Amino acid sequence: PGNEMWGGRFAQGPDAIMEGINASIDFDKRLYREDIAGSLAHAAMLAENGIISKEDEVSIREGLETIRSEIDSGAFSFSREREDIHMNIEARLAELIGPAAGRLHTARSRNDQVAVDFRLYVKSALVDVDAALTDLIEALLTRAQEHAGTVMPGFTHLQAAQPVTFGHHCLAYVEMAARDRSRARDALRRMDESPLGAAALAGTGFPIDRHRTATELGFREPTRNSLDSVSDRDFAIEFLAVAAMTAMHLSRLAEEIVIWSTPQFSFVQLSDAFSTGSSIMPQKKNPDAAELVRAKTGRINGSLVSLLTVMKGLPLSYSKDMQEDKEQVFDTVDSLSLALAAMTGMVKDMAINADKMRAAAGAGFSTATDLADFLVRQAGLPFREAHHVTGRVVALAESRKVALEDLPLADLQAIDVRLTDEVYSVLSVDASVASRKSFGGTAPENVVRQIAYWRNRLAE
Ligand code: ARG
Repeated sequence: PGNEMWGGRFAQGPDAIMEGINASIDFDKRLYREDIAGSLAHAAMLAENGIISKEDEVSIREGLETIRSEIDSGAFSFSREREDIHMNIEARLAELIGPAAGRLHTARSRNDQVAVDFRLYVKSALVDVDAALTDLIEALLTRAQEHAGTVMPGFTHLQAAQPVTFGHHCLAYVEMAARDRSRARDALRRMDESPLGAAALAGTGFPIDRHRTATELGFREPTRNSLDSVSDRDFAIEFLAVAAMTAMHLSRLAEEIVIWSTPQFSFVQLSDAFSTGSSIMPQKKNPDAAELVRAKTGRINGSLVSLLTVMKGLPLSYSKDMQEDKEQVFDTVDSLSLALAAMTGMVKDMAINADKMRAAAGAGFSTATDLADFLVRQAGLPFREAHHVTGRVVALAESRKVALEDLPLADLQAIDVRLTDEVYSVLSVDASVASRKSFGGTAPENVVRQIAYWRNRLAE
C-alpha cells in the first residue's frame, strides 16, 4: 500500500507499531472546534490577500462547516491512518470539495496549526477555571456570612491553638481561590498571542497577514518569533501550574472536610448528595467526594511534572515529543473541573454543627493566650513572663482536669496575685474571638467586613 499522506516521498505505509506510537487522533480529536476555527480564519486571510481565490475560500469554508456538523453529530469517522485531527479534517475536506482542499495548507504547517489550536483550547479552559473558581468563592462567602460568629477551634499542628470563627476559616479559602483566579487571568493574558502563520518554523514567503488571523481568532496580537511560536508550550505548562496550585488548595479543604466529618470531630455533616454509603456497614457515610478531590490533585501534579519533563531537553524548534502535551492538559481540564464542581457542591450543602465546633473551641486551653495577654494589658507584665505564669495556670488546670475558667480565683492568685477576678471575662471563646480585631484577625466584625470586601471585588 502507498502512503496516503506523504505519497510523493514515501513508497510504503507505516508499520502498525509506528501508527500506534504516532497517531494522536484518539485524543486530539478534542481540538476539532479550534482546528476548524483556525482553518476558517487562515483561509479567509489567504483569500483577502490574493493567495487563494475567493471561490476556493468559499468552498473551503462550506466544507469545514460541514465537517464541524459531522463531528458535532457523531457522524464523522476518525481514522488512525490519518494520524491526527489536522490530517483527518484536511482529508475529509478533500473528499468533500476536491482539489481546492489542498490549497488550505498554503503558508501553514501542522506545527503552527497545532500551536494555535492548543492555545485556543487552553485559553478557553482557563476561562472555565476562572468561572468555576468564582462559583466556589461565592459558595464560601455565603457560608462565611452565615457563620461569621460561629466559634470553632483554630489549629496549628492540628492541635487546638486559639478559637477562630468558621466564617474566618471559609474566608481563608476565599483568599486562596482568589489568588488562583488571578493566576489564571495572568496566564491567559500572557498566552494571548497567535502563533498561526509561523508556518513550519521559519515563517513564510507568502504575503500573509498574521495580525488579521490573530484578531479573527480573538488573540491580542501575533507572536513575534516563528521559532518560538512552534516550539513554545509554556502556555500549557502555565495552565497545568495554575491547575496544580488550585488543586492543592482544594485538596487542603478536602482534607479538612474529611477530618471535620469524622464522628470524632462532627464539625460538619456532608449532604447525602455528596457522600456514599458502605456495602457492608450500614451506619457509614463516607466523604468520597472530598477524598477524590484530594486524589485528583495527585494526577494534576503528575501532569505538570510530566510536561515540564517532556519539554526540558528539546532543541528548537518543533519535535514530535510535543504531541505528548495534550493528554496531560485534557486530563487536567477534566479532573480540575470535576474537583472544583464537587468542592463547590460540598461547601454549599454541608451542614455545620455549630455546637460541636464551639465545644471543641474551648477544649485544650485554647484561651491561654488571652490569659497571658490579660496579664500584659492589666498588670504590665512583659509577654514572656505572662507566658510563663499562664503556663503554670494551664498545668494546674490540666492536673485537675478542668477548663481554665473553672479554676477558683484563690488558686489563680496562689500562682500570681495579679490574676484578678476580671480575668474570667477574657477566658470565654466568644470574648477571645471578639477581641481579635486587628486587621485580618478573626473577630466577627472583621469577617463581616471582609465578606463585603470580596463581594465588591467579585462585582468588579
Ligand atoms: N499531532 C501533532 C502534534 O500534536 C501535530 C504537529 C505535527 N507536526 C509535525 N511536524 N509532525 O504535535
